[in-house]
Amino acid sequence: MATLQLNVNGQNYAVNVSNPDMPLLWVIRDLIGLTGTKYGCGIEVCGACTVLIDGQREHACVFDASSAVGKKVVTIEGLSADSSHPAQKAWVANQVPQCGYCQSGVIMTVAGAMKAGHHGSEILSEVKNLCVCGTYQRIRQAAAML
Ligand code: FES
Ligand code: FES
Repeated sequence: MATLQLNVNGQNYAVNVSNPDMPLLWVIRDLIGLTGTKYGCGIEVCGACTVLIDGQREHACVFDASSAVGKKVVTIEGLSADSSHPAQKAWVANQVPQCGYCQSGVIMTVAGAMKAGHHGSEILSEVKNLCVCGTYQRIRQAAAML
């Protein structure tokens, strides 16, 4: 058992983990209770678990929780206080989601790409996320607005 001090969405949490190598995804979802970040594949393929760590896109399914200590973690819940991030607005304007399961990961991927200075089609080329509903055309339309 270990206690990790984590900063998620601007709030500090002391979380007790059975193993410091526990994937950050389970800490975020099961111990902190932020369930917007999703589990899809667990092997860094689908992107459903994407979060920002110190502004960088990371797959929380394979990111050790202990490696997030001292860093700033942002999940979909913390991207903006009122869904006003430009990516969120573009997603609403284009009605991108179908089932929605993959979309928090897609939006966080896009937000990370924007933070890295990408725009429009450059953003799209950064999006490798899988969407079993096939919303790729609408993702393309929304990304073009950014
Ligand atoms: S659940 Fe992490 S990349 Fe698929
Ligand atoms: S919207 Fe359903 S998996 Fe992408």
